[in-house]
Amino acid sequence: MNLTYKNINCGEITENQVNSIVEIAGWAATIRDLGGIIFVEVRDRTGVFQIVADPKVNPEAHKVFGDLRSEFVIQAKGKVTLRPDDTINEKLATGKVEMYPEEIKILSSAQTLPFILEDENVSEDIRLKYRYLDIRNSKLMNNLKLRHKITSTIRNYLDGEGFIDVETPVLINTTPEGARDYLVPSRVHDGKFFALPQSPQIFKQLLMVGGIEKYYQIAKCFRDEDLRADRQPEFTQVDMEMSFAGQDDVIALTEGLLVKAFEAAGVEIKPPFKRITYKEAMEKYGSDKPDTRFGLELFDVSDIMEASTFEAFKSVVAAGGTVRAIKIPGIANYSRKDMDDVRNLAISFGAKGLAWVTYLETGEVKSPVFKFLTEEQIEEIKNRANAEKGDIVFFVADSKKVVFDVLGRFRLYFGEKLGLIDHAQHDLLWVVDFPLFDWSEEDQRFVSVHHPFTMPNPEDLDKLESDKGNVRSIAYDIIYNGNELGGGSIRIHDSNLQETVFKALGLTEEDIKNKFEFMVNAFKFGTPPHGGLAIGLDRLVALLTRSTSIRDVIAFPKNSQAKCLMTNAPASINEEQLRELHIRLRNPQRV
Ligand code: AMO
Ligand code: AMP
Repeated sequence: MNLTYKNINCGEITENQVNSIVEIAGWAATIRDLGGIIFVEVRDRTGVFQIVADPKVNPEAHKVFGDLRSEFVIQAKGKVTLRPDDTINEKLATGKVEMYPEEIKILSSAQTLPFILEDENVSEDIRLKYRYLDIRNSKLMNNLKLRHKITSTIRNYLDGEGFIDVETPVLINTTPEGARDYLVPSRVHDGKFFALPQSPQIFKQLLMVGGIEKYYQIAKCFRDEDLRADRQPEFTQVDMEMSFAGQDDVIALTEGLLVKAFEAAGVEIKPPFKRITYKEAMEKYGSDKPDTRFGLELFDVSDIMEASTFEAFKSVVAAGGTVRAIKIPGIANYSRKDMDDVRNLAISFGAKGLAWVTYLETGEVKSPVFKFLTEEQIEEIKNRANAEKGDIVFFVADSKKVVFDVLGRFRLYFGEKLGLIDHAQHDLLWVVDFPLFDWSEEDQRFVSVHHPFTMPNPEDLDKLESDKGNVRSIAYDIIYNGNELGGGSIRIHDSNLQETVFKALGLTEEDIKNKFEFMVNAFKFGTPPHGGLAIGLDRLVALLTRSTSIRDVIAFPKNSQAKCLMTNAPASINEEQLRELHIRLRNPQRV
């Protein structure tokens, strides 16, 4: 489409346009004055195109060129010509052509920018403060373009599968996804607050009661939690829910969606993806989001250690804990200092100590804990580890939670350090059969692993009262190269079972009534069996663009302190606004 200021994009001008008159508009990206002849690269969102001014050819245009400074917005009109052979730039899509403008106009001048756009050493804080300038960078621009391509691909796919995009409200009551809520005070209702949704979970389930059957939404979610590279206080989910569907249906739908999304990023993946149970993921990889691009699997030595004379390990097993091991190949030549570093690493991951057996290249086998083990026990460890000369086997004894966490992180550390990870791989994996509950030391009660609407595995219903820790759920996560991309579950659609689960979570009749009465009630009016899943869109795009942080695929992200450095949000509000909201600050002096 021709616009008032341009009839072609800079990045689209090739030999095909030679001899035609084009009109371009964009930013002066680079300006080079080579003894009178001035070369300017004009940039728009599609790429750059070179324009040239020669005082002998067009003195008027040359004068305007002389006034140009970096990042001025300009418009130029002229005939496209082939560049002389010696100035052809093969690296550039438009590198064979250029234009000596007949007309050139400055549309907007620019002050000196606070940083050089393509300079990689500029601090992220500066870039976030001037985010609109950073967006001019090709990296961020390309990320946003790919994000758009992926979302529109996903929309097309779900539309094609008969899904309906329904918007759900943002001013709501609290949702139980396990993070802290962002709250919004009500002016109209003194002392009352809205919560922003941690996800559209409750509403999408109620849409199933409403008969929508197939719902999706590219939904903004809000969670007040500790930020990391893959977490933002507000982020986007591709949120889906389906009636009359079981786990395999949700999995098949998601696999089809991911095939298309990856394809949009130029990556071919082939479903069905592998599936492993949560139990297997923890036992083998020490993680519920295992990176299965490499081995280094953990193994159990509790029985051997229980029978040994090593008190530190025996007592852990006697108390219901476990001793697990991991074999790291080819590091038997580690120095004492290296081993100290490894031990400190394990301790920083939460271990109380680290024990090991070293299989030296000479055939000698050494270990600080040998004195506690019999010949047979030493042999059994070697067999289980499949250890060879050059390997070290490490042991950690503790509760399962700690052991898996430490060895899982150990595994990732050595996988990376020893170059065992093939970064060209696209490893997609389902983790299924998550436990329904997890014991929270902090709250001294069981909490939901996914959320309280998740269906218990029918085979484990009898354990809901007696053995909560061992109830499996019909919940599943989709993992990509060791990152959690998304998760979902089949939901409870029976109001009695829902009440039982609420009670198992320690909610009183009163709590249930206050928080979820509308939901329990809704389920009494004919609820289809249903389930769904949500994919973290920011994470998906970040991984597909190989970005180190999801901030790199969000136009205006918060920094790691949950602040917007550009607009300075969150900000103080004045006394009048506070009064209107019926709020008095506890520490007004801090504001
Ligand atoms: P869950 O809490 O697992 O499930 O979230 C789904 C996916 O959302 C992404 N995600 C985040 N991305 C960026 N920043 C965050 N703070 C953040 N938190 C979560 C992750 C995660 O896998 N309602 C359920 C889904 C369902 O059951 O259908 C839910 O929200 O990629
Ligand atoms: P100690 O007899 O306590 O000096 O421990 C002997 C070795 O076992 C040391 O290398 C300790 O780091 C290690 N160790 C002690 N407790 C644990 C544990 N819970 N898990 C793994 N190794 C341990």
